[in-house]
Amino acid sequence: MRRVIIDCDPGIDDSLALMLALKSNEIDVCGITIVAGNSPSDMGFRNAKKVLSFLGRLDVPVYVGASKPRVREYINALDTHGRDGLGESFLEDVPNCEIPTKTAVEFMIEELSRKDTSIIALGPLTNLADLIDVNTKAFLSAVDIVSMGGTFKSHGNCSPVAEYNYWEDPDSAKIVFNTLFENGRKLKMVGLDVTRKIVLTPTILEYICRLDIKTGEFIRKITKFYFDFHWEWEHIVGCVINDPLAVAYFIDDELGKGFEAFTDIEVQGISIGQSVVDSMNFYKKPANSYILTDVDVKKFWIMFMSRVMNIDKEIIEKDFEMILK
Ligand code: RIB
Ligand code: CA
Repeated sequence: MRRVIIDCDPGIDDSLALMLALKSNEIDVCGITIVAGNSPSDMGFRNAKKVLSFLGRLDVPVYVGASKPRVREYINALDTHGRDGLGESFLEDVPNCEIPTKTAVEFMIEELSRKDTSIIALGPLTNLADLIDVNTKAFLSAVDIVSMGGTFKSHGNCSPVAEYNYWEDPDSAKIVFNTLFENGRKLKMVGLDVTRKIVLTPTILEYICRLDIKTGEFIRKITKFYFDFHWEWEHIVGCVINDPLAVAYFIDDELGKGFEAFTDIEVQGISIGQSVVDSMNFYKKPANSYILTDVDVKKFWIMFMSRVMNIDKEIIEKDFEMILK
């Protein structure tokens, strides 16, 4: 089993990503760290606990990190994720859940010094930049770093060119990409180019409810708001679930294809938060990122549904044509 820290800002799609991760036997989620993003960090902590409680996994520790971006004003995404950050499902808070005194960065340093731990980052990279400030060596000992964030050729979701995680805290994202460049390392960037292809449709949701009413109804509860948001703003029936793809790709990198490139993050001006991917090697700089550009959508859904519902993937394969009509 590969040990992994999931740094996230739950958040509806972060919650679906946590469900996939915690139902996948290939990975051992040694802890969850919370960063301000979709939700303020204390709300994100409570939401992570709600998801862990639903999964019967309150054994997984949750630590809280940054409550705001490095430089910019904090801008949440509650307009997309609802007033409770979980699709206005308004699930009961898990009782007796105090925020630990140990911080996200302290936990990350502890775990990463074991030298067999990876990081999946599903929110702004503030906690990772803070980790670099405190202990760069610990950050660089991460075996693998996968970040849901950025975009190469697909339009942004916070500006024509910027994706939320890197737009909300571009300074931290820049520090992470530059530190990787300076140390000859790469992160795997799972950006909007591929995550926009992962759309939870009413048919998929209905199918999940038919096979596993408990899981289906939980997903329905936390995504209804998201469906409404997507209809209103993107005029699609369904909702793009970005974060689960980063987890799926960490589990099986055959799911996606891409290319290595030097990437830098714009921290000011009209294109603030843009991930500038040097796909044509203009800057003649070694790659610090692997940019995902293609994804096997069918393979993702079969993995996601078979894991979250605990159902043989052969059953889902058989039904697949009907599901993804
Ligand atoms: O832009 C999409 C990303 O920003 C997702 O991780 C979503 O949860 C938000 O954090
Ligand atoms: Ca997220």
